[in-house]
Amino acid sequence: GCGDSESAGPRTRPSGPIVLGFSQVGAEGGWRLANTKSIKKAAERNRVKLLFEDAAGDPKKQLEHIQSFIDAKVTAISFSPVVEKGYDDVLRRARDAGIPVILTDRLIDSDPSLYVSSIGAEFVAEGNLAALYLENDYDEEQGGKGSINVVELLGAIGATPTKQRSEGFAATAKRTGRIKIIASESGDWTKAGGEAAIRKVLRRTRKIDAVFAQNDDMGLGAAEVLAAEGLKPGTDIKIVTVDATRAGLEGLVAGKLNYVVECSPLIGEDLMSVVVDLFFGGEVKKRITSDKNVFNKISAAPALEAGREY
Ligand code: AHR
Repeated sequence: GCGDSESAGPRTRPSGPIVLGFSQVGAEGGWRLANTKSIKKAAERNRVKLLFEDAAGDPKKQLEHIQSFIDAKVTAISFSPVVEKGYDDVLRRARDAGIPVILTDRLIDSDPSLYVSSIGAEFVAEGNLAALYLENDYDEEQGGKGSINVVELLGAIGATPTKQRSEGFAATAKRTGRIKIIASESGDWTKAGGEAAIRKVLRRTRKIDAVFAQNDDMGLGAAEVLAAEGLKPGTDIKIVTVDATRAGLEGLVAGKLNYVVECSPLIGEDLMSVVVDLFFGGEVKKRITSDKNVFNKISAAPALEAGREY
């Protein structure tokens, strides 16, 4: 392809149905389950035959999945990368076999010509938005004085959203000059991981004003631990998270979480459009981003009542 898009041009159309091999990160939490559901539903709706594999958070398994899709001579391959590094060799083999690759949700650190398109959220902006809550709403509540001590609960190390949400949060925090990141611990995207990570920090210090959890699950886990320690989550310690799953919005309504930045897992339809367009359409965009929103206690309730899907 050239420029920003890839044309359907010379690609041979499959004689039967499109077969898409998809390797998912795992089933680590609410966001991921919703993402898997979205992909399966969209495949069915678009009559794409989906070969779905779950890497259970293991990059090696994901490499094996991609190789097995190449061996099975699928029409196209997609995956949500567990980490950013290590995919070059297998993606070169996919290219040599003439099988187009589409990244979903996350990115990889490799030659961008190894994939035709990537679909996902703007993770740096999500981190920015999370810090802006502390800079604006929280700071106003505190009278604009003193430093704001923040504990950051990271996702799995080496994954795009972990790196980029941190980057965005730190950049905005630095600009304010008062937001101090006093600890960064990985909670591996899970509720149990979030609990363990905040426990570790609490052994060192209790001088915490806010927690920035890189997803709802970890933030809700941290809220439980804080409550058990006699610290009122959402009141004594503010909690900001990313994702905006139903559980996250319910946490806002209950007053346990204070602010949630949305990251939509509903990217199945976008993925299937790209897959179909690669063979039967015109142009495919190299980068497709999803919409985002922010929620607080007031806006969470109507979003839940509107029948949020995930
Ligand atoms: O890549 C998106 C992230 O992965 C979500 O924010 C998180 O919940 C999931 O595990």
